[in-house]
Amino acid sequence: MIIDGKKIAAELISEIKNEVSLIQKKGFKLKLSVILIGDFLPSQIYVKNKQKKAREVNIESEVIKFPKEINEKDLLNKINELNKNPDVSGILVQLPIPTHIKKEKVINSIDPNKDVDGFHPQNVGNLASGNEAIVPCTPLGCLSLVKNVVKDLSGKHAVIIGRSNLNGKPMAQLLLKEDCTVTILHSKSKDLKSECKRADILISAAGICEMVKGDWVKKGAIVIDVGINKKNDKITGDVDFDDVKKVAKAITPVPGGVGPMTIACLLKNTIKCFKRSNSINR
Ligand code: GUN
Repeated sequence: MIIDGKKIAAELISEIKNEVSLIQKKGFKLKLSVILIGDFLPSQIYVKNKQKKAREVNIESEVIKFPKEINEKDLLNKINELNKNPDVSGILVQLPIPTHIKKEKVINSIDPNKDVDGFHPQNVGNLASGNEAIVPCTPLGCLSLVKNVVKDLSGKHAVIIGRSNLNGKPMAQLLLKEDCTVTILHSKSKDLKSECKRADILISAAGICEMVKGDWVKKGAIVIDVGINKKNDKITGDVDFDDVKKVAKAITPVPGGVGPMTIACLLKNTIKCFKRSNSINR
């Protein structure tokens, strides 16, 4: 089975559109503010896609562009201004940012209730404690895709390749919450192949082109590919799709798997942030 991320995301987008419409009927406005620094082409493309989808569900979006030379103080001032602006529901600083600016300082300066990425330590801590939190969009999307195949993940062995704050770590927290047994693999892990082979659910966010082969995967496993890599001008995932699809029960393609879900979850998080800032429950 090929997991159709585009179709599942389209269903979610349609639900989001309805929810936005209900909120707007009550006289409220939703707005996502995105800060884009420098001229890194992939970031420009990601931001454009986020804006396009926001427009599709009638969430207003603005992109605030800064040159790569911007100093930390000016950036923090802008974030502070957005924090205070009641018209802004969500704030996203597109990563990576230039190295002369401390990433942690920037993330920590975002109001946790407007932190659509779920990167603020308050949201990270709440997720780790099993409390209500804004959850990073990509892991949230991955979990939805897995649950589209099986509803009950209790006792399943999930293996995650990658330990980043964006993907691997929050993914592990979400799967623990679902009562999975979780293994996180990373660049210093030994014997990746045999560790992966134990997985009922394999999630790869390694960033290495077609690293996961058919003989790394247990028969009947669910395989989610977070990788976006370039091979001869073609976008490929971390998983050797044609090889792995022969053994997996379900697998996401790249593109058309995790990517569309990430954006849909970003818009869902924007609504969640709006509700938090306006003390609306649910
Ligand atoms: N750069 C790559 N992925 C992401 C993401 O999910 N959020 C932000 N802010 N930057 C990114």
